[in-house]
Amino acid sequence: MIPGMADGARVLFTEDDIQSRVRSLGEEISDDYAGRAPTLISVLKGGSVFLADLFRQIALPVRVDFMSISHYAGGAEESAVVCVLKDLDNDIVGQDVIVVEDIIDTGLTLSYLLAALRARGPSTLEVCTLLDRSARRIPPLEIRYRGFDIPDVFVVGYGLDSEERYRNLPYIVAVDRADALKEDPDALLSYLSGPGAQDTVAE
Ligand code: IMP
Ligand code: MG
Repeated sequence: MIPGMADGARVLFTEDDIQSRVRSLGEEISDDYAGRAPTLISVLKGGSVFLADLFRQIALPVRVDFMSISHYAGGAEESAVVCVLKDLDNDIVGQDVIVVEDIIDTGLTLSYLLAALRARGPSTLEVCTLLDRSARRIPPLEIRYRGFDIPDVFVVGYGLDSEERYRNLPYIVAVDRADALKEDPDALLSYLSGPGAQDTVAE
């Protein structure tokens, strides 16, 4: 068993769960935007894995663009104000924009970002998130496309990290003790060998 983690980690969504949900979201977007060419905007780095899978399931001529933001120092993820580290390459005036996110937690980051994007004059602006931890939402947000609603538990994998690790897991792992993982970032390394690998270690 992984020292310090006890039984505190488990697969929340398998690769199949994710891929089949992503396929449905892609079909829904293809239907809703038929005859149009939406621009998908992903927030680096977490949202990039979802975007890569999602846009290959959209049967329309889509554009993609990326933004990178960070929370102002002080560590407060609660800080609503973010700093733009990398802006979009192209302008979005008159475009059908869909912001693609890995997870929406309090929603503070996204509401700040949406206000900034709205000011640039897109014709429409919608949100597609893989995970929605809606119980922790602070500002009211309208989310047009949502993969899964999740309980108040920390997750890694499929783009989501802890201390920059585990973004490359093809599935999503829920961690009961996010603080323990932060202290020992290698605690879940066995998951990188596949969802069954840590059982082998335990025996
Ligand atoms: P919000 O402003 O509280 O909605 O924060 C959302 C951002 O925090 C996400 O885009 C992620 O980068 C990060 N985040 C929130 N929850 C998790 C999690 O469970 N695992 C990894 N990153 C997370
Ligand atoms: Mg993010």
